[in-house]
Amino acid sequence: MKKKAIIANWKLNSNIKSISHFFTNFKLNAPVNLNKNIIVIIPPAVYLERVYKYIHDKNIFLGAQNMDLNVEGSFTGDISVAMLKNVGVKYVILGHSERRLLHNENDLVISKKICLAKKFNLIPIICIGENKEEKARNKTQEIIIKQLSYIFEYLGKKVFRNTIIAYEPIWAIGTGMSADPNYVQLIHEFIKNYIQKYDSLASHTLMVQYGGSVNALNAKSFLNKPDIDGLLIGNASLDVKEFLKIINMCNTK
Ligand code: PGA
Repeated sequence: MKKKAIIANWKLNSNIKSISHFFTNFKLNAPVNLNKNIIVIIPPAVYLERVYKYIHDKNIFLGAQNMDLNVEGSFTGDISVAMLKNVGVKYVILGHSERRLLHNENDLVISKKICLAKKFNLIPIICIGENKEEKARNKTQEIIIKQLSYIFEYLGKKVFRNTIIAYEPIWAIGTGMSADPNYVQLIHEFIKNYIQKYDSLASHTLMVQYGGSVNALNAKSFLNKPDIDGLLIGNASLDVKEFLKIINMCNTK
């Protein structure tokens, strides 16, 4: 069976003490077959190296929450793809709605970053999805096509190979109001069919994740759907018990 990916996005949370607590518990309680699925931890950049030390020998991968458009030079405060690579990062979230909204990242910036990530062999986790108003106006598919087609036009037909797309309806993120798994299944099918039209080979290596208020209570209903290839988890991934429950669910389904 195809592996699913369980990805923890810690956002602007955690500290040295909480990370130590997380991995002490993780080590004691994690299932032995961690490699049955793909587990990725994405801490704030300042803790990447620390987290890498805890996970590198455990079949867990390291991810970054963002990266700069430049590889090196006079760009105070930024973090480059080369630096991420240098400290063991394998995945990078690009185009998260919080970055689109709070840092004005548009489709062009996101496409340039995807290009750079691929050049350095990082796997991009590309976030897409509609906001509350767009959902109310039945515009979800239109928004998804707009976001994906821009990337296609900028980077060519093969861009979604070996890539993760995270469908994250903005209204579901951090609100406690997760989307209906049946609705998500339909959207994922739509995303895969849309990409398939341009690149029939993408489906072998493309994964489509769901993110938005996932927790240990609702995770299974998403993981049971054939086109939901895993979960991008924010809040619930900070709680080691909750996160382990979700990993166990994924391993035993
Ligand atoms: P949430 O965040 O699980 O806290 O809703 C998900 C995300 O933004 O990746």
